[in-house]
Amino acid sequence: MSIEAGGLQVPVSVIIPAAGSGRRMGGGTAKQFLPLRGEPVLVRTVRLFIRCPLVDEIVIAAGDVEATRALVGDMPKVARIVKGGAERQDSVWAALQAVHSRPRIVAVHDAARPLLTPDVLEGVLRAAATCPAQVVAVPVQDTIKQVGPDGVVVATPDRATLWAVQTPQVFWADVLVRAFHRAMADGFVGTDDASLVERIGVPVRVYRGRPTNLKLTTPGDFRVAEALLEGDA
Ligand code: C5P
Repeated sequence: MSIEAGGLQVPVSVIIPAAGSGRRMGGGTAKQFLPLRGEPVLVRTVRLFIRCPLVDEIVIAAGDVEATRALVGDMPKVARIVKGGAERQDSVWAALQAVHSRPRIVAVHDAARPLLTPDVLEGVLRAAATCPAQVVAVPVQDTIKQVGPDGVVVATPDRATLWAVQTPQVFWADVLVRAFHRAMADGFVGTDDASLVERIGVPVRVYRGRPTNLKLTTPGDFRVAEALLEGDA
C-alpha cells in the first residue's frame, strides 16, 4: 500500500542497514545473522515490514550481500540488497540511492531491532503524511550526565527534555537525500539519520515508542530479547 498525503498516494520504502560487523557481540557471526528464539534476527526484522500493509518495498544494506540474499532475498517486498559501507551512515546512503521513485516516504530501521511492535510502526508511518521527519523515541528514565574526558561531570541536562532515540526514523525522501548531500559535503558523520536532517533546518519530531524496541548489541541484549519474546508467546 502507501500513505495518503495531500491527496496523493505516496509509496513507502524501508531501508534496513544490516552491514554491521557486530564486534560488541564477540564471536565471528554478525548479530543480524544470529538466531533469536530459533530465527535469525534479520529475518524477524524483515518480517515486521512484510506484515505492515503500509510498506511497499524493503531495501537492505548488507556487509555480505550473497549471504544476506540467501537468507532474505526471496522474502516478499525485498526489492534490493546493496553493499553497505564502513559506517552505518554509508550503508544507509547506499540503500537510499537504490530507492527509486519520488515522491516517497523512507523509513530507516536497524536490522538489530527485531522487537519493534506493529502499532508503533504503523503509527509513525501514518504520522509521516503530515510530518517530513520523525523518529521513534522514548523519554529517558535515568538522569543523564555530560562527562568530560577527565571523567568529571560537565552538566546535568533537564531530564524532562531528554528522549532516547530509536528507529524507525521516517522521512520524506527528498528531505533525507538533501540531508545526506549536505552531510557529505561537510564531512559530517552522525550517529543517527535524523541528526543529518536537523543540520538542514528541517524540524524533526519524536513519535513515542516502547522501551522494548531494543537494539541488540551484546549477548545480554539477546537474553533480554528472548525473555520478551517468551512473554509474547
Ligand atoms: O553498530 P550499530 O549497533 O549502531 O548498528 C546499527 C545498525 O546499523 C545495525 O543493524 C547494523 O547492522 C547497521 N550497520 C550498517 N553498516 C555499518 C554499521 C552498522 O548497516 N557500517
